[in-house]
Amino acid sequence: MGVVILGTGSSLPEKIVTNDDLEKIVDTSDEWIVSRTGISQRRISGPGEQAYILAAKAAEKALDVAGVSADELGAIIVGSISSHLSMPSCACLVQQEIGARKAFAFDVNAACSGFLYVLNVGYQYVRNNPGMKILCIGAETLSARTNWQDRNTCVLFADGAGAAVIGFEEGERGILGSRLYADGSLWKLLYMSAARSYNEELRVPELEGADIRMEGREVFKHAIKSMYNAVVNLLEETNTPLESVKLFVPHQANIRILNKLSEKLGFSDNQVFLNVADYGNTSAASVPIALDEAVRAGRIAKGDLVLFCSFGGGFTWASCLLKW
Ligand code: ACO
Repeated sequence: MGVVILGTGSSLPEKIVTNDDLEKIVDTSDEWIVSRTGISQRRISGPGEQAYILAAKAAEKALDVAGVSADELGAIIVGSISSHLSMPSCACLVQQEIGARKAFAFDVNAACSGFLYVLNVGYQYVRNNPGMKILCIGAETLSARTNWQDRNTCVLFADGAGAAVIGFEEGERGILGSRLYADGSLWKLLYMSAARSYNEELRVPELEGADIRMEGREVFKHAIKSMYNAVVNLLEETNTPLESVKLFVPHQANIRILNKLSEKLGFSDNQVFLNVADYGNTSAASVPIALDEAVRAGRIAKGDLVLFCSFGGGFTWASCLLKW
């Protein structure tokens, strides 16, 4: 039996922020940002473009493509680390926004690996209950958590949402393998601090401030090594030769990571989907946005093998292979 993606959708904020715009805020340059990250512009949310709104718009497009009504959904799962509320979950806000009254809803915190974690969880539910249809989403407004005075991070992160409706289909199509990993011992290399604790006993003042902190070079090394292993393990486990993968859709972190990773794995350029230049790093939203663009661009046809991988804070990382 197959757990298939029935439809995808994505939604991006209206506002485009270019590298030239960033030059006016911090000491940086278009040349530095493009050469180190491959990012030329990114979308940043304006009024009324919170993560759940972007997520709901992406969800409605995915439901439309899937031919599934909101009422038919059994669950909504959202990967997000930047919803404007800690409680309720972004998923509950999406549920009320799209009117999916029969769906239970919760968030998954796996940073940039969020969508592949969500897809894995949804996959388990559908395997156990083939009647279920599940909305899997990655949605972020990292601009709200980015320190716009910190040139090390503010040039990287951005906003957006992507969604996929999954369900059961008889036959060979669907998810062939999905692997999740984590290593909490390395959390200090990439984290987002919390708001101030009202309990003085629990305060960790150096961790307060609610912005993203990152050891860029360490993240760079771990990202390549971890995603490489996640892909190789999954291809081995599913007995899949690399040449048979039609499209590799990795987390759009930055172009140097993606080029090194693709080169190390042995992918040719036309096997790799890239859109980091236009959208920057949208964390949990990056894989589903890229997937939706690839589908709409006609880069994936029925029966094609599509491979995903991601890496993010935690550290967390993941890979997934599916027959489209
Ligand atoms: N503009 C200009 N100069 C900058 C900027 C900027 N935006 N940011 C940093 N610099 C400076 C630094 O201050 C440093 O200056 P110094 O030598 O005077 O101290 C210099 O550039 C070099 O800094 P490095 O950190 O050595 O630059 P590096 O070549 O490592 O590139 C980068 C930095 C792009 C962050 C790189 O380490 C990287 O890509 N890391 C991965 C980070 C990542 O993708 N994180 C996303 C989250 S995890 C994920 O999604 C996979």
